[in-house]
Amino acid sequence: MAATQMEQLVSLCKRRGFIFQNSDIYGGLQGLYDYGPLGVELKNNIKAAWWRAMVYERDDVEGLDAAIITNRKVLHYSGHEDTFSDPMVDCKKCKGRFRADHIDGKCPNCGSTELTEPRPFNLMLRTQLGPVVNEDAVAYLRPETAQAIFTQFKNVVDATSRKLPFGIAQIGKSFRNEITPKNFIFRVREFEQAELEFFVKPGEDEKWHEIWKQNRIQWWRDQGIESDNLKIYDQQPDELAHYAKACTDIEYKFPWGFDELEGVANRRDYDLGNHTKSQEEFNLEAKCHENHDSTTKLCIRDDDENKWVIPFVIEPSMGIDRGMLAILVEAYNEEDLGNGNSRIVMKIKKHLAPIKVAIVPLKKNSPEIMAKCHELKQKLMKLGIGRVALENTGNIGKAYRRHDEIGTPLCLTVDFETLEQQPESVTLRDRDTMEQIRVNTADLPAYLREYFA
Ligand code: GLY
Repeated sequence: MAATQMEQLVSLCKRRGFIFQNSDIYGGLQGLYDYGPLGVELKNNIKAAWWRAMVYERDDVEGLDAAIITNRKVLHYSGHEDTFSDPMVDCKKCKGRFRADHIDGKCPNCGSTELTEPRPFNLMLRTQLGPVVNEDAVAYLRPETAQAIFTQFKNVVDATSRKLPFGIAQIGKSFRNEITPKNFIFRVREFEQAELEFFVKPGEDEKWHEIWKQNRIQWWRDQGIESDNLKIYDQQPDELAHYAKACTDIEYKFPWGFDELEGVANRRDYDLGNHTKSQEEFNLEAKCHENHDSTTKLCIRDDDENKWVIPFVIEPSMGIDRGMLAILVEAYNEEDLGNGNSRIVMKIKKHLAPIKVAIVPLKKNSPEIMAKCHELKQKLMKLGIGRVALENTGNIGKAYRRHDEIGTPLCLTVDFETLEQQPESVTLRDRDTMEQIRVNTADLPAYLREYFA
């Protein structure tokens, strides 16, 4: 996708109700976006596709939904208080602040090369809990969903009697005070993550790292991303997060170049080890901080070895917002229809499409046609296929174009033949081929259930 098309996509996202700037009427707030009527549907469908693949279609994963506000000690022992930072520089001339690794020795605002030395800027957002304002009241908005999965590890094991290997999945908001948010919803300060922490026996981590890399690449293909637009990048030792032994990025070809969609990290025993009391009882590989506050050993019984072990962790971690942007970029097509006509069509996979079926009346000022449209809407919205919309603009051509632009896979048209001929039938128009077929209304529920299965 060219940069100009990216601008058109951003504009379409606002015009059609996918994505709005947060606090728009007050001039916005940098790095924060709100999802509109279609955006929330698309986002929910992406999350549902992830949950289905990671939890429902496996028998070795449990779910979790933990609080966002996090005890300071969790993020102290996880290493985030000390090390979760980006290098920041100030421009001495215009006073702009930038990520040192995002600029090329010159201020992007004013071009000055007079910059301060880089210094670490902690990305966590602090808040305080309770009525007393002091350091003891400090808590954080979580910078990753992962930490609650680690701190609840023992409770989940006790509640489910799981044995290794098994995983805990979670989808939820995370927060990072990015120095320079950019590229629309790619780098934002409040975002949603879908993370799996997959716990394996020590020594089996590299095998499982490879398995999860392949699994996650296939998932992105299943969401409609072409293989040629995906790339694997193995992080170099100096790029790894403080917890990781290895990390493979799955990158997408965004309009500005390949950039990270998801990381598949080998966190080894770093996190469970750090949150464990009496660490000396375990043969930890990671260099952990001594823990004086934890009340628990985050270990599990290895029946083969007849001992307690702290598992290693493989973590596929995706950003939902940037995943959504990749899906929108991939789906965006401008098609030349000949004779000076063109259309924009979003070829979003049907399981992700915000609206599944649009019911379109041939004429809006025909009470009989409108009554039939309402009757069909009542029937179809109970099928469980997702959102069904009723168009009543009265211009069938405009309705088709609008639904092409927002990725609605099927438009169902009620015309005079529907009212006059038996058996009663409607037309179904396919978004991608624009071909129309006639389907009896008695057969619609089975047809649509099968189509969206
Ligand atoms: N849990 C990995 C990350 O937030 O990047």
